[in-house]
Amino acid sequence: MSEAKASTGANGPFDLGGRVAVITGGAGLLGQRHAEAIAAFGGIPVLLDLNVGRPELVAERLRERFGTRALALEVDITRPESVRSACAQILKRLGRIDILINNAANNPKMENSDKVNFTRLENFPLSQWEADLSVGLTGAFLCAQVFGEVMARQGRGVILNVASDLAVIAPDQRLYRDAGLPEERQPVKPVTYAVVKSALIGLTRYLATYWCDQGVRCNAISPGGVFDGQPEEFVRRLSTLIPLGRMARVDEYQGAIVFLCSDASSYMTGSNLVVDGGRSCW
Ligand SMILES: NC(=O)c1ccc[n+]([C@@H]2O[C@H](COP(=O)([O-])OP(=O)(O)OC[C@H]3O[C@@H](n4cnc5c(N)ncnc54)[C@H](O)[C@@H]3O)[C@@H](O)[C@H]2O)c1
Repeated sequence: MSEAKASTGANGPFDLGGRVAVITGGAGLLGQRHAEAIAAFGGIPVLLDLNVGRPELVAERLRERFGTRALALEVDITRPESVRSACAQILKRLGRIDILINNAANNPKMENSDKVNFTRLENFPLSQWEADLSVGLTGAFLCAQVFGEVMARQGRGVILNVASDLAVIAPDQRLYRDAGLPEERQPVKPVTYAVVKSALIGLTRYLATYWCDQGVRCNAISPGGVFDGQPEEFVRRLSTLIPLGRMARVDEYQGAIVFLCSDASSYMTGSNLVVDGGRSCW
């Protein structure tokens, strides 16, 4: 059965009726919103996160609000055995895996930090480089390896890698400047963020072509910055770089998530959907 023929639910090609969607970092700021979007279109979100307490609360809210069978599992995506164990539990409880959203990442909150010396390239600790690559890139690889194989066996599935506007443009370090600090202590967006996000675009193309004969599509989404109470001056500076003149609201990626995870995007693979208020076109 083709993907298009499979979408017979109430939401037409956007319908996710009964599809099991694994979301890494599912209890974080955006992970929760991705899960809501999946549930609202009939899917079953499975939240993977480090500490099961918070994800379980999120899953409970989703079950109450959407009547979905949402699950929460404590998983460290940097550990292969943890990812494999999660996969076995999901298959036992839900029987299949249709969607993987590689969303977890280390997200340094530069604009709120005052101990930022270490972020500068000259001082950036190797241990931090390894930790950031481990979550954002190795974690995405391991999840794709384990969950992607299940989808390939099923003959259908979608992998969505969450990149960033900083996958397509360089960080503008002027955004993070603090007038009160000497040059050598000026905060910068860490090198790892740009490297991880750019690499995810490469992983996206690799996976899209690797499993193309098994019905597994893979795309990336590159969101711009979300307003989450950042300092006024930072928000003002960033907003001047964005044609739409503001940061994103936390729910403004939900439409794109449903599109990319559903049959509405059935002829799309290996692409990067940039949703950044126009920032990268300026
Ligand atoms: N928030 C933004 O403005 C923004 C903008 C562009 C892109 N993004 C990207 O969107 C994604 C989500 O961002 P967010 O703002 O919700 O981040 P967040 O920090 O709120 O959430 C990340 C989640 O990942 C989890 N996590 C970290 N390490 C893990 C591990 N080893 N195993 C399992 N889970 C782990 C954390 O516990 C957390 O719940 C990230 O990839 C981020 O880079 C965010």
